Amino acid sequence: MYTRILTVLIFVIFTLANANSQQATDIVAPEPASPIRLVKTKPVIAKNWMISAANPLAVKAGANILRAGGTAADAAIAVQLVLGLVEPQSSGLGGGAFVIYFDASSEKLTTLDGRETAPMAATPRLFQDDKGEPLKFYSAVVGGRSVGVPGTPKLLEELHTRWGKSPWPSLFNDAIALSANGFQVSPRLESLVRKDLKRLGSDQTTSDYFMPNGKRIVAGDILKNPAYVESLKIFATEKSAPFYQGKIAKSIVAKIRNATKNPGVMQLSDLARYEIKQRPPVCVTYRAHEICGMGPPSSGGLTVGQILGILQSHDIKSLGSDNPQSWRLIGDASRLAFADRGRYMADSDYVPLPLKGLIDPDYLAERSKLLQGRMSLKTVSPGTPKWDHAQLYADDEAIELPSTSHFSIVDQYGNALSMTTTIENGFGSRLMTNGFLLNNELTDFSFRSHKDGVPIANRVEPGKRPRSSMAPTIVMKDGKPRFVIGSPGGSRIIGYVAKTIIAWLDWDMDVQEAINLPHMVNRFGVFDIEKEAKVDVMKQMLGALGYLAVLKNLNSGLHGIEITPDGLQGGADNRREGIAYGE
Ligand code: GLY
Repeated sequence: MYTRILTVLIFVIFTLANANSQQATDIVAPEPASPIRLVKTKPVIAKNWMISAANPLAVKAGANILRAGGTAADAAIAVQLVLGLVEPQSSGLGGGAFVIYFDASSEKLTTLDGRETAPMAATPRLFQDDKGEPLKFYSAVVGGRSVGVPGTPKLLEELHTRWGKSPWPSLFNDAIALSANGFQVSPRLESLVRKDLKRLGSDQTTSDYFMPNGKRIVAGDILKNPAYVESLKIFATEKSAPFYQGKIAKSIVAKIRNATKNPGVMQLSDLARYEIKQRPPVCVTYRAHEICGMGPPSSGGLTVGQILGILQSHDIKSLGSDNPQSWRLIGDASRLAFADRGRYMADSDYVPLPLKGLIDPDYLAERSKLLQGRMSLKTVSPGTPKWDHAQLYADDEAIELPSTSHFSIVDQYGNALSMTTTIENGFGSRLMTNGFLLNNELTDFSFRSHKDGVPIANRVEPGKRPRSSMAPTIVMKDGKPRFVIGSPGGSRIIGYVAKTIIAWLDWDMDVQEAINLPHMVNRFGVFDIEKEAKVDVMKQMLGALGYLAVLKNLNSGLHGIEITPDGLQGGADNRREGIAYGE
């Protein structure tokens, strides 16, 4: 463990020391600290602006924009462009994302959906074999079939059109310089490449990039990405159009259709019809705050909202964070919310769903009564939220593995942005073109389309967006943002985000303490407990309450900012390589 901390620290310090910018020394690496794995123990404090993201070079690119007077939207673009280079396994121009944005001048909260779409030629049987049985997960992931139409390029342009202030080309400076001159491969990128050599070898371009001359990249290598430089230059001059209609669009389609493994069915017309959608934020009241997040096609806002809404009538504060009864309540509230998620939540443009009913306070109060005992719930079923549109669905069977990246930004004008961004599985479909990896987002659909003749809400349909768990969140009080948070982690994202909000609001932890608090996540009955010093005791105590509890590495990537009357406090997850930085 200590070796890992040391390696990460050396990486952060070395990366910053070698960064291209004149302000390289302005960004300070996190202090080493004594407790197990807690390199970062205190929030980073700043007066004017703050970024927290998964890689120091991405934070620096955003900081350069904010320092020069750019908005949170401007900085998000610079951050994403660098993340696509230095953390290519998690997110990038071949993927999709959700944003929740507080615009200080209008005092309005907006959510934008840049989720990938299924090609129009996709059918509900996309991930089934000849007998209609679901494919094995990785048999579906690798190759062209799992790739959805990328939303990120258009989303970045949309952010700039709505809220940008900096000149568009200036947002590309750091990403272009780093791709052209090379960036230092991080320990995390090395380790993920090492574990995925076989799948990465399935595509020649991908293999040539991550294993140049047949030798896999290792931490400390300087890696250049000339193809990405070209894409960035096109993006900087022509904005996102070439990704949807021009040269880049054509090569995306060719890559997908000509894939040696699982050739896909995407056509140029699928890219040309792609749209960013503005959706109403989903807000739930908890402890006199409004917890606002992303609605369908993400299940993130609704499921985090349901967990907190169910807990609203329970005194988690007095119980405290060390009490197994707190975790019983959180765990079983989460199981109830996941039961509803599996039954009802999907792309609401395709399937009607009881959006209001699912977060109706009376419904959640009813569900909350199920938690009145002292022991774990023996069985958990979906509820029957109020709905003016009766529809029968079977329970979902989507497989979601941890991946993705999250960043939070607050600028000097008081704008706040929470963005969770993904290419789905680590390294997505493993297909690389134009310097970026293509997503495998379509495997977030349920592989099974029906159960006993009853349709599953999150089945594949042409043009539909797969259900997500991404939960970019802004917590509001009296109409102003107070806490900006989100995480990667597949469907455990929901538990990570809910826990962090509970730790901050109920247990009075600062943002860094709340992020550091060990995870205990229960989605479907089993309690996943993060391996950490005190967990054996908790494992036994939860076992006594009737749970099967297992120890796991729970690899969240929570990046958050608290907005206080005195300034900003940033927190970054010790479980990944990121930092918070502000001035
Ligand atoms: N692919 C990760 C998510 O959308 O939740």
